[in-house]
Amino acid sequence: MSMQFINLTENIGSEVIGVNLAEPISKDDMNKIEQQFNNRAVLLFRNQDISEEQHIQFSRYFGELEIHVLKQYLLPENPEILRISNIQENKKNIGISDAGQYWHTDLSYTKTPSRCSILKAKVIPERDGDTTYGDTCFINTASAYEALDADMKQRIKSLKAVHSYTDRYEKMRLAANSQRQPLTEDQLKKVPEVIHPVVRTHPITGRKSIYVNEGFTTSIVDMDPEEGKKLLQDLYAHCTSDVFKYRHKWRVGDIMMWDNCSTQHLAISDYGPDKLRFMHRTTVMGSEVF
Ligand SMILES: [Fe+2]
Repeated sequence: MSMQFINLTENIGSEVIGVNLAEPISKDDMNKIEQQFNNRAVLLFRNQDISEEQHIQFSRYFGELEIHVLKQYLLPENPEILRISNIQENKKNIGISDAGQYWHTDLSYTKTPSRCSILKAKVIPERDGDTTYGDTCFINTASAYEALDADMKQRIKSLKAVHSYTDRYEKMRLAANSQRQPLTEDQLKKVPEVIHPVVRTHPITGRKSIYVNEGFTTSIVDMDPEEGKKLLQDLYAHCTSDVFKYRHKWRVGDIMMWDNCSTQHLAISDYGPDKLRFMHRTTVMGSEVF
């Protein structure tokens, strides 16, 4: 069967049909996958049974891989893979259990944020075998930018915003039932605040997108804090309209990849500690924001 793409919604995402990521992919097909990814920002591959090494190898096609700052959640033998899970061993989580339960783009709090992330579903919470929990929502922030009115585009054109990992980490750490420990001096040094333009240009497609997110953006540079907060909230409300959104219902064996330049995502936390969830994530390095 030859490879096909089926759009998930009008503005975001395609499912890739007819590809087995456990087998070698021709250069031609890989180019088509990459082109589709750049155009649609989210790709879904169903029913994939790949090893950790194959996950890493596929991810490397898109660039070098990040090693996450929370080292305790990396696979010891393959540290390019970050565990996202509420499974516990010896009363300790084996992965990040509360990852991404707010709208964000991965690593926007770094100077050179990630190009894309590639998530593999290993265990999905379910009840009675038919209802699954822990969906992930994605929005296309390039489509959201294009839909802004001319006045708003003009207003945000030259603005910059502050992104912070520690601010978000502290909020999560102080939440009920959190297992997060205070960040060490060494970890803190690796995640200083950074400043990025509010409107970002995609380094490959040239499309502009809204690059502020509820998860990591803390303020607008050189703007009254209340006014900045209001502007950020208006932009978040606009970006998260249903028209720019795709909500993914996971199945074991799904692989989702998303573009961290032109999307945001949100992990829905609608399952308790008795329902297990386990994902493997690779994170591809990106370039400076402009
Ligand atoms: Fe994320």
